[in-house]
Amino acid sequence: MTDSQEEVGAMTPLQLYERLNAQGEQVRCLKTAKAEKAEIDVAVQLLLKLKTDYKHLTGQDYKAGCPPPENVVNQDNGAATDGIDEEDNVDPWNVSTSNAKGVDYDKLIVRFGSSKIETELVDRIEKVTGQKPHRFLRRGIFFSHRDMHQVLDAYEKNKSFYLYTGRGPSSEAMHVGHLIPFIFTKWLQDVFDIPLVIQLTDDEKYLWKDLAIEECHRFAVENAKDIIACGFDVNKTFIFSDFDYMGSSPEFYRNVVKIQKHVTYNQVKGIFGFTDSDCIGKISFPAIQAAPSFSNSFPQIFGGRKDVQRRSPNRLSQTSTRRQLLHFPHRHTQADQEQGAFHFLTFSDPTQINKHAFSGGKDTIEEHRKFGGNPDVDVSFMYLTFFLDDDEQLEKIKQDYSSGALLTGELKKILIETLQPMIAQHQERRKQVTEETVKQFMTPRPLNFKL
Ligand code: TRP
Repeated sequence: MTDSQEEVGAMTPLQLYERLNAQGEQVRCLKTAKAEKAEIDVAVQLLLKLKTDYKHLTGQDYKAGCPPPENVVNQDNGAATDGIDEEDNVDPWNVSTSNAKGVDYDKLIVRFGSSKIETELVDRIEKVTGQKPHRFLRRGIFFSHRDMHQVLDAYEKNKSFYLYTGRGPSSEAMHVGHLIPFIFTKWLQDVFDIPLVIQLTDDEKYLWKDLAIEECHRFAVENAKDIIACGFDVNKTFIFSDFDYMGSSPEFYRNVVKIQKHVTYNQVKGIFGFTDSDCIGKISFPAIQAAPSFSNSFPQIFGGRKDVQRRSPNRLSQTSTRRQLLHFPHRHTQADQEQGAFHFLTFSDPTQINKHAFSGGKDTIEEHRKFGGNPDVDVSFMYLTFFLDDDEQLEKIKQDYSSGALLTGELKKILIETLQPMIAQHQERRKQVTEETVKQFMTPRPLNFKL
């Protein structure tokens, strides 16, 4: 069942809502009936497209069981209509696109006002740090930045800066995908030898998810163990739960309130797509995520200094706390947009890849030998671009898979052999993380670094 744009365009919010219910049912039926993968993919694609249309039409996310209120017709939420077409739906919580080629990152860079990471910047990072750039930078997985040259200028003049990143603890276990920003942040901490603050937004997850406060806080502590197991230096790293730190740091709370005073409801509504039925906790939350951008939110680390720049390897509030911007966002390939490709790769069993990883290979060995596989849509190859550090080896695998010399099963085997030691080491390090270690990282205290 396909819907032309005209048909969708002519639908009322309620009609589109019902259409979405039907399409959701369609996808469930196909999956239960174990239909052909291609057929399921097409149905999922259409569901995504209709969701984007629904968001555009009502300014709200489609939620089964929540029909659109009567007066929601054609509400423009500002965020979606900034002159850039809406194939890509990217907000702090969702990444989806109806564009067959995946999210258009160049448009995203324009939309969020950041700059592309050009080779010249990667070369400069290598020169300034004396270190080979991380594979996430070499391969454009982290692909845009803001003011990184300014930071390198300051760094060359021995003016230090600190790193800030975070995690929303929505589950006890983190999967491999969740660790990517932390793997990159650790590299930045090591090569620049600078302090790092990590915000665990247990409050955010309580506001957005159907979880109890205690549960969110427990998840925060559990996630801290996975984050510490990434190998962060305890002498340079402060990890904090908002439920703990916000209540114990007057300076932090003062900055939150200062930010809240300078940002209007319309602005956060425009940036985040909030609606009148969103709770006030959600609306004021961005100020809490922006506050760690100011060094005087951490008097125990920076004394009262206000002039220490911070870099966030991903999302941060920028010059005026008004605009929440993506920073060093990392790419999502087509493959993981459709299927959320990381979700099945937990730390328990990497061989899940054999079962779940969407393959770019041909259906038969004969066909694959003749026409080769398509690495651009292959989840296993995508993983290798994230986790196999040797560029030459990766290029050889790409050639062999495209030529058909390498079969899908063999490609998955290489990935499992690449991931297994990495996952085993992470699990081993996580076992060493005691409650005492977590307490050490999460206690407000001076960190040792040269300012
Ligand atoms: N809100 C983010 C999430 O849900 C967590 C977070 C808090 C964060 N502060 C941050 C992420 C700074 C990146 C940078 O995952």
